[in-house]
Amino acid sequence: MTNLLGYPGFNLDLPQIVRAENTWLYDAQGKRYVDLESGLWCAGIGHGHPRVIEALTRQAGQICHAGYSYNAPVVDEAAAEVLETSGLAGGKCIFLCSGSEAVEFSIRAVRQAASQPLLLTFTDSYFGAYGDAHRKSGDEWFLFDWADCAGCPLDRVCGPDCPAWQKIPLSKIGGFLFEPGSSSGLVRFPPSKLVAALAAQMKKNGGWLLVNEVTTGLGRTGEWFGYQHYGLAPDVVALGKGLGNGYPVSAALLSPGLLARLEANPVHYAQSHQNDPLGAAVALAVVRAIKEEGLIARGREISRLLLEGLADIKQATGKIREIRGRGLMVAVELTGDKDAASTARARRGLLARGYIVAQRPGLNVIRLDPALTMERAEIAGFLSALQQVLEQEVQPPPAA
Ligand SMILES: Cc1ncc(COP(=O)(O)O)c(C=O)c1O
Repeated sequence: MTNLLGYPGFNLDLPQIVRAENTWLYDAQGKRYVDLESGLWCAGIGHGHPRVIEALTRQAGQICHAGYSYNAPVVDEAAAEVLETSGLAGGKCIFLCSGSEAVEFSIRAVRQAASQPLLLTFTDSYFGAYGDAHRKSGDEWFLFDWADCAGCPLDRVCGPDCPAWQKIPLSKIGGFLFEPGSSSGLVRFPPSKLVAALAAQMKKNGGWLLVNEVTTGLGRTGEWFGYQHYGLAPDVVALGKGLGNGYPVSAALLSPGLLARLEANPVHYAQSHQNDPLGAAVALAVVRAIKEEGLIARGREISRLLLEGLADIKQATGKIREIRGRGLMVAVELTGDKDAASTARARRGLLARGYIVAQRPGLNVIRLDPALTMERAEIAGFLSALQQVLEQEVQPPPAA
């Protein structure tokens, strides 16, 4: 792989993967690995899901790509299905190519509709690789750190009277970009009370609620969408990752209210691969597979097995500091060491035993985002391998 520009800081551990089937990856030597990372949290219903392969093959044989002035019926059918499933029926959907792009488009729509100049988001939110999403700074954003709100000691209503809110320039906020489960913050879930109060206050002031479901959508957190854990009614929803199950398709969904506001001033977004039939056909197949195969419920059951098993290992080994998880979005923070060398050894130990997990270099955290279609036996096998590597590779924490 000498010609390949990879992501800095990550080794290419498995350069010879030749086949993937559900949660299994196979290398050129025939060794198989259980993928508990689902690629980059994308293959949410398993690699090579038969319905996705069928949709890809069928649609590729008809038409992959079209233009602004003509298109295939599957695109509208997919848009209707995605809107209805996301709780934005009556709105409109644009299919794009990546999560970054869906968030970028959504931000553009919100900015264009907003009557106030600032967008609010949490300091630990991540929303993409380019443009506005990548910057997340400057005088167009207000970043709020919710860490102090997590264990709020104040027995009072969450709202503008709280000292923590005093810094928020509420009258200047035109929109709130909310990620219902922080991925860059290594799986942390902002408190419901805070999120509901911020969203309500912002709406009262005429602002728009944009929910970034790129990671949390399509069943990842045990509900169809992460915002459902917060009882919110978003104006915009950005989808990516799981929507294409590994194929690069994403979507931005706009509510009827936001569309009405944009009617006289629509978003001009020139990109060649918007509303491509191939991506739309894949998205439609994914959403229907989740519905018709009961995969949300299945994911919850797998999550229960995984979280219970991890709690048992924490108890048995004393080498897990914290388990954070909702549905199948899970982070396991190890007692580890300062430079996370033992966590890196644990990850390599798991890989040698045939289990792929994620670790960001330098952090004592193992991330697990398995597919909703993972088999119970694979969870059991993983838990037993994890216990072994923790016992062998990770030092117990020093006695207090
Ligand atoms: C919460 C969140 N938003 C947006 C993105 C960007 O998606 P993509 O990398 O597919 O462009 C990511 C990617 O990890 C993400 O985790």
